[in-house]
Amino acid sequence: AAAVKGGFPTFMEKEIHDQPKAVADTLLGRTDGHGNLVLDELRIDEAILRSVDKIIVIACGTAAYAGHVAKYAIEHWCRIPVEVELAHEFRYRDPVVNEKTLVVAISQSGETMDTIMAIRHAREQGAKVLAVVNTHGSTIARESDAVLYTHAGPEVAVASTKAFLAQITACYLLGLYLSQLRGNKYVDEVAGYLEELGKLPAKIQQVIDGEENVKEVARSMKDATSVLFLGRHVGYPVALEGALKLKELAYIHAEGFAAGELKHGPIALIDEGQPVFVIVPTPRRPTLHAKVVSNIQEVRARGARTLVIAEEGDEAVTEFADVVFRVPQTPTLMMPLVTVVPLQIFALALASAKGLDVDQPRNLAKSVTVE
Ligand code: G6P
Repeated sequence: AAAVKGGFPTFMEKEIHDQPKAVADTLLGRTDGHGNLVLDELRIDEAILRSVDKIIVIACGTAAYAGHVAKYAIEHWCRIPVEVELAHEFRYRDPVVNEKTLVVAISQSGETMDTIMAIRHAREQGAKVLAVVNTHGSTIARESDAVLYTHAGPEVAVASTKAFLAQITACYLLGLYLSQLRGNKYVDEVAGYLEELGKLPAKIQQVIDGEENVKEVARSMKDATSVLFLGRHVGYPVALEGALKLKELAYIHAEGFAAGELKHGPIALIDEGQPVFVIVPTPRRPTLHAKVVSNIQEVRARGARTLVIAEEGDEAVTEFADVVFRVPQTPTLMMPLVTVVPLQIFALALASAKGLDVDQPRNLAKSVTVE
């Protein structure tokens, strides 16, 4: 059994360690060597992709948070409006969908029934469906107009880790590809972004190499009953994912918030000793950065214990942080690929410290094949 887990005690731990490769493999073979993306595998008419005037991302669970990251990137790079919606909510309202809508369905298994039903509904309304899927030949891959595969390899642990990073990576490729097809009107050069993406596997590895530090903090918090997560911009979906991981694995009440929402409600939850994770954007985006740093200050002033995820060299956070987890410098839109990793390790280590089964958490299924 240890062999299939690559020598790790659990599949989840192995899969966290597989992440640099999952990202590298998802990037592999998709460029022409001259800084252009080649996604011939999409088998979808380029003219259709050029004429798309709206994108709706549908997914469930962790995959939906990958879609949330995709929204920030695709809107910035392509100026195409992107909505992100949980597949089951999309299916049973009355969404505005037509021939010019591209529905992007994200799924690790390709078998999530809520997502399948939403795809069928979208296609009936005339939308084209492009699936970002990890499992070859799965129902979602077969029922979609086009497939962009993630190459994360088989994911066994119920809680998704490497599939999430691969999904985000594939969404970046999709965004850059749409930009390229549409004449790169809003992006200086796709090549530069591709080069940055190519550096991500090594950066993710660097975060994993620092795991002992995260595990130690997690073990010291095994009696926590509530943990909050704050993030802004692409840090927001990371906060949501960090909270989801902790619920799924450690059965602790955890909630993610948009940091800007703090004063509109969540700050009332803060009292002495309340653990709060804060995902801090790069200081190279000073306006964004300053706002989140002041959020750390605000919760700290009310007694919170602050666990801060910040870039190397970001000294502005140290004064208000009880604990700092460092990530390498990364372009803003790509930060989720590094900032989520400490949160995965944290949830894994805390659940292990509680003696829980991290690969098979109670009540959950790897793939939910009923609506
Ligand atoms: C279940 C799993 C989650 C996963 C979600 C979507 O809830 O427990 O880990 O994120 O389904 O699954 P999919 O296979 O569609 O990505």
